[in-house]
Amino acid sequence: MSDAIAALPQQNVLVTVEEGIAWVSLNRPGKRNAINPGIVFEMNKVLDALEETDAVKCVVMTGSGEAFSAGMDLKEYFREPDAGEPIARERLNRANSAWQWRRLMYYPKPTIAMVNGWCFGGAFQFLCACDLAVSADEATFGLSEINWGIIPAGIVTKSVAAALQQRKAMYYIMTGDTFDGKEAEKIGLVNFSVPKAEMVDKVKSIAKKLMEKNPHVLRACKVGYHYTREMSWDMAAEYLGSKIDATKFRDPEQGAVKGMSQFLDEKSYRPGLGAYKRD
Ligand code: ACO
Repeated sequence: MSDAIAALPQQNVLVTVEEGIAWVSLNRPGKRNAINPGIVFEMNKVLDALEETDAVKCVVMTGSGEAFSAGMDLKEYFREPDAGEPIARERLNRANSAWQWRRLMYYPKPTIAMVNGWCFGGAFQFLCACDLAVSADEATFGLSEINWGIIPAGIVTKSVAAALQQRKAMYYIMTGDTFDGKEAEKIGLVNFSVPKAEMVDKVKSIAKKLMEKNPHVLRACKVGYHYTREMSWDMAAEYLGSKIDATKFRDPEQGAVKGMSQFLDEKSYRPGLGAYKRD
């Protein structure tokens, strides 16, 4: 285990690393992994440690026990900080935005959300910020904010608007109705929903596929996706044109040269059917 991972508190967030995959679990099962300041500050340390550890190639975000996450902790994230110093409140918000989407969305390694159970409110934020998502059929999702008199804030409304069609997003935002993993798959909130007993294997098979790709190019692909969504067509074309050059230039393993040569000269693989052979 790397020094950075060995130094983690492993209290509010548990981390194990196996075969290149870091399994990151929100760890307040008794509170259904409701997100409190303890999780917020520890999760930022976890993301730092995983970023700098070469043994980690893919990150899976999940929850301990029967919940993925019951969203923000109503007592420790809202009621108590709201009654305290505004500057501390702002610091907490900033730290929460950092791990839940600002860093996660552009994280340099691929990320998969594994929704093992209850998933409410603020949990949608880091669910949507992960690159891909797999759910247990048995999981329960809900934008429950309306049920206790707030709007889905942070960046939840925007995340849901980006992931779902308008009618679906509006329905769940306005009713707070719950839905299961199968519905989450149907509406595009997760890539796949499978019986809970098959969930870990499904995640492992996707992670394996991602880890076979060139990590440098994979990083540029995901960041490019997020940035260009907000750009005009002309700006996006310019950005992507520059990035493809930058990626080729900076790629430590010179994947494009290798991939082209293995196809055109060696005839050892077909790019349409799989990745080139990495050293
Ligand atoms: N904030 C604070 N405490 C919570 C939260 C939460 N979001 N979710 C669960 N808990 C606590 C409960 O208060 C309870 O604490 P206690 O044992 O000290 O009484 C403990 O976790 C277990 O919760 P139960 O409700 O007893 O568990 P159950 O399995 O019956 O229900 C469920 C689970 C459905 C997730 C329920 O706890 C719930 O509705 N939680 C709130 C979900 C929610 O609306 N989250 C906020 C979304 S809005 C936002 O994130 C901005």
